[in-house]
Amino acid sequence: MALLDSLRSQNSLLLATVGALVLLVVVVLLKPRTKYRYPPGPKGIPVFGNLFQLPPAYPGAKLIEWGKQYGDLFTVQLGARRWVFLNSSETARELLDRRGRLYISRPEFPVTQDILSGGKRIVMMGHTQRWRDLRKIMHQLLMASNSETYKPFQDVESRALVWQYFKRPDEFYKHGARFANSVIFSVVFGRRTSMEDENVRLLFSTIDDFLETQTSPSAALVEQFPWVVKILPRPLQWFRPKAERSYRKTIGVYTAFFEDMERRIQQGENPECFARGMADLAEKYGFDKAQAYFAAGSIIEAGSDTTRNQLNIMLAAAAKYPAWVANAQKQLDEDWDRLPYIVAVIKETLRWRPNMTASGVPRALIEDDTYRDFVFEKGTVFVYNHFAISHNEQEFPQNEVFLPERFLNDDLQELLKGHLGFGTGRRVCPGWHVATRNMFIAFSRLLYCFDFKEVPGAPIDVWKIDPLAHARPPFEIQITPRSEEHVRLIERECGQAGQEFA
Ligand code: HEM
Ligand SMILES: *[C@@H]1O[C@H](CO)[C@@H](O)[C@H](O)[C@H]1NC(C)=O
Ligand SMILES: *[C@@H]1O[C@H](CO)[C@@H](O)[C@H](O)[C@H]1NC(C)=O
Repeated sequence: MALLDSLRSQNSLLLATVGALVLLVVVVLLKPRTKYRYPPGPKGIPVFGNLFQLPPAYPGAKLIEWGKQYGDLFTVQLGARRWVFLNSSETARELLDRRGRLYISRPEFPVTQDILSGGKRIVMMGHTQRWRDLRKIMHQLLMASNSETYKPFQDVESRALVWQYFKRPDEFYKHGARFANSVIFSVVFGRRTSMEDENVRLLFSTIDDFLETQTSPSAALVEQFPWVVKILPRPLQWFRPKAERSYRKTIGVYTAFFEDMERRIQQGENPECFARGMADLAEKYGFDKAQAYFAAGSIIEAGSDTTRNQLNIMLAAAAKYPAWVANAQKQLDEDWDRLPYIVAVIKETLRWRPNMTASGVPRALIEDDTYRDFVFEKGTVFVYNHFAISHNEQEFPQNEVFLPERFLNDDLQELLKGHLGFGTGRRVCPGWHVATRNMFIAFSRLLYCFDFKEVPGAPIDVWKIDPLAHARPPFEIQITPRSEEHVRLIERECGQAGQEFA
């Protein structure tokens, strides 16, 4: 009897499942023909679309292949959403930049934003009033006219960087991480940081948690089905506990930073820093405490790993293509005030290895739009095919070679032109000014003081500069002062700034 019951209930379960599938197929087949028209793209399977064709990590190669096949615009169905890949500088600039008002939102990230970030990470926010307020605040903090605030920090930290390279060259990747983190930490919390600080280590690990899901649009399946997350009862949300743990860790680290600042103020310090004014801003714009913490934390996060990675890329390129280093050093020796070559080096590092955002940073369209013969529906996701665009042989001849000379043109000082390293349009990285100056001072000082060579027997694989690795060296490299004279200069000019952390 019990057996029969169980069989019966299994049967009805099967029946229900089949019924649901038939219904789904009918719905799909009967879907009214719409006015929307999309560029061609690879064929997918029902429900999941092309999700399983795109590797969950390092999607760049597949995207290059699709680009070759489908041209400058192609459509990929990823779960519940359509993604249009912009595969040329022109299409990216035309849509994301010139029509920036429309391509301004972000797609929903039901796990990474809504749970893991408590809805509070600026970089993933939709086009909401909250995002607009935060963007305004960030803009004021980070814009060029504010750059005097950063200069002293950039000066002292780049000296410390040179000192640390001199003392412990094998740990170059840690020094770069500390440099990037400490400059922006000084602005936000009013003090320098050390990689030995437990909270700084934790901060980098929260960045990993967040980026883990962002390395490829197919990294986390459920992310591409926001409705599933909405209808699935909480106990069945297998992804939730991990994401919630990460949220608590993140808020814990940010809280520790704020409490440390408050302690220092009580002890009589008087730091002039961004976080100190956060309580007032929160009141003015009506944020809660957690959002205020995330505003400060997001800025440090956005400015740390990115800049660290650029330093590693520059080093690998220096060891691999020594010819450009000689040009840079010649200019540094002769003319410290005007260094167009270093600006070109910055742009080239952004173009040459854009792996941190190999598939771009997604936008969501906020109104229907038409382009050529295509009609795009509001909500469509758009993304620039970053690696493919940066390595387009027509636009960048000898695209694999690190060649700063390609940027020595009339647009040189237009720092956002010629590459998509900071994105483009109304979501462009608000930290690009600070980031460019960070690179400028760090690159100049390192290139002035040191020579960079590959370690005999351990050539650098320039395809494997992992943008996310910070606990281990991304490659081996020999870093030596250019001469005895340079050693004396380093000791004289950088010793003090560096000793605190040496
Ligand atoms: C070399 C260093 C950096 C690189 C390559 C970089 C790159 C990017 C990219 C590609 C985006 C997305 C842009 C888009 O959607 O079009 C972005 C957003 C952002 N970046 Fe940066 N960034 C860097 C440094 C910084 C720094 C130093 C800060 C802050 C001090 C910062 C703060 C932000 C913020 C807050 C966002 C989110 C903006 C929004 O969604 O409205 N970044 N960054
Ligand atoms: C960087 O991207 C290229 C192109 O997709 C890929 O071949 C390479 O393996 C990537 N390297 C890393 C370390 O992600
Ligand atoms: C699209 O990307 C591929 C791969 O990088 C490239 O070969 C192709 O020329 C691109 N198409 C256009 C029209 O830009």
